[in-house]
Amino acid sequence: MTRIHNFSAGPAVLPESVLREAQEAIWEHGGHGIGILECSHRSAQFDAVIDSARARIKRLMNLSDSQHILFLHGGARTQFFMLPMNVLRGGRATYLDTGTWAEGAAKDARRYGTVDVPFSSKATGWDHVPATLDTPPEGTVYLHYTSNNTVAGTEFHHVPDVGVPLVCDMSSDIMSRPVDGSKFQFIYAGAQKNMGPSGVTLAILEDSWLERCDKDIPEMLQYGIHVKKESMYNTPCTFGIYVIERVTAWLEGLGGLEAIDRMNQSQADRVYGEIDRTGFWHGKAQLGSRSRMNITFTTGDADLDTRFHKEAAAAGLSGLKGHRSVGGLRASIYNAQTDAAVDALVAFMGDFEARNG
Ligand SMILES: Cc1ncc(COP(=O)(O)O)c(C=O)c1O
Repeated sequence: MTRIHNFSAGPAVLPESVLREAQEAIWEHGGHGIGILECSHRSAQFDAVIDSARARIKRLMNLSDSQHILFLHGGARTQFFMLPMNVLRGGRATYLDTGTWAEGAAKDARRYGTVDVPFSSKATGWDHVPATLDTPPEGTVYLHYTSNNTVAGTEFHHVPDVGVPLVCDMSSDIMSRPVDGSKFQFIYAGAQKNMGPSGVTLAILEDSWLERCDKDIPEMLQYGIHVKKESMYNTPCTFGIYVIERVTAWLEGLGGLEAIDRMNQSQADRVYGEIDRTGFWHGKAQLGSRSRMNITFTTGDADLDTRFHKEAAAAGLSGLKGHRSVGGLRASIYNAQTDAAVDALVAFMGDFEARNG
């Protein structure tokens, strides 16, 4: 069967070359005579994979030698509580309420300390991110923000640097543009949007926080244990790490994050260009906050939106339905999205407008 164009918000499109390599590696990987799904996480075969994944992530994200790269279980959502459980410990943190996931992270953090929320765009459907912020109160342990809001379709186009340690949920725009990762105290991201399959979560922890981490919580939830055991405290998601290694190799081969940034911007510009071309479509995010990864839009008529994503699916464009909590339409155009898919989407939008405008 031929493949269709996939605009799913995650798990999402992966590079064709990586999928083809993975297909082969399932049967036989690296000249070892066994497939990647079958090899021990404690083998030289797998050591080479995980070491290479770490090295590539470090190079791509400009991480420093004092940042630990971890591959964990439980999705980004586990980091919503694992981080404050380890480092907040009754202290105070600032959370920016820019979307469903940001709100969920703050909710879990409240179980472990005081949470200040100096910014919320919830009242307007989380349609923008803050341009500026005041300095958080004295003693704030960290500022948490979600760099890309997958559901609302907004994104920070700057790093909100306010003089306290920075924590970022980069689940839906990690490695989509140049980033100085060394500025962050903690970064986390589920792999299933820009890096690989679901089932593995990347966490990047600055060494200076190890001291602060609670040692009186279950071992599986202690960052210190995962750092010491180099992500092998229990069996990691080996296949997911293999795919991350291949996706980061693909990114480096393209020319790194500057190159993918240009490609992402050009694809996003084409879709937003179509949205803005006439008054038929309405972009949901405010102009300065528009996401390059998840483009949210609507005709303004729920029935027409439904007709659009159903007809699009029938025409081979899948995953365009908005998140169930907000409705409308959403096109996810992560790193691996193809120009052909974007061209097909833009053409289909034009055609749909001609028939219904
Ligand atoms: C920004 C963001 N954070 C967190 C999550 C939750 O991720 P997971 O399903 O890996 O727990 C998502 C899922 O879509 C997300 O988009």
